[in-house]
Amino acid sequence: MDKSKLIDKLNECLRHEWTGVAQYAQAGFVVAGLWREVYSDKFFDSAKESFGHAKLVGEKIVAMGGVPSVERNPVKQSDDLQELLKMALEFESKAVKVYSEALELAEGDRALIVFLEDILKEEQEGVDELTRILRDPKAVAASIGSSATKVG
Ligand SMILES: [Fe+2]
Repeated sequence: MDKSKLIDKLNECLRHEWTGVAQYAQAGFVVAGLWREVYSDKFFDSAKESFGHAKLVGEKIVAMGGVPSVERNPVKQSDDLQELLKMALEFESKAVKVYSEALELAEGDRALIVFLEDILKEEQEGVDELTRILRDPKAVAASIGSSATKVG
């Protein structure tokens, strides 16, 4: 296990989480229309989840002798709910990618693997939930209709 490479990768995870705090909070601020009541809270919850992960990762970096990053990546913005949800899916998918990369570097350190797997599990839940939300309802209806036809 290369400790400095791992700290760099954890800092990449941390920068992604800081991006999430700003991007999700912005989505919570700007989302408008009939679904605002539902999605504003949902986006703020996601911002809180990102902050929670940032805290865990930052504490871990310090425990490993590193310095946590205060940087973040560019924030994607939109005033369209569908676009905001697509950006959220992209964000969660990238989180799965960076934590998976960190896990590869953590090989041999059981406790660190468990620590990263716990976060990775939540990132994947985010991907799964957004994938379910973003499914095309017409395609879903069509596939339910066709399987109902087969059964009937
Ligand atoms: Fe996260």
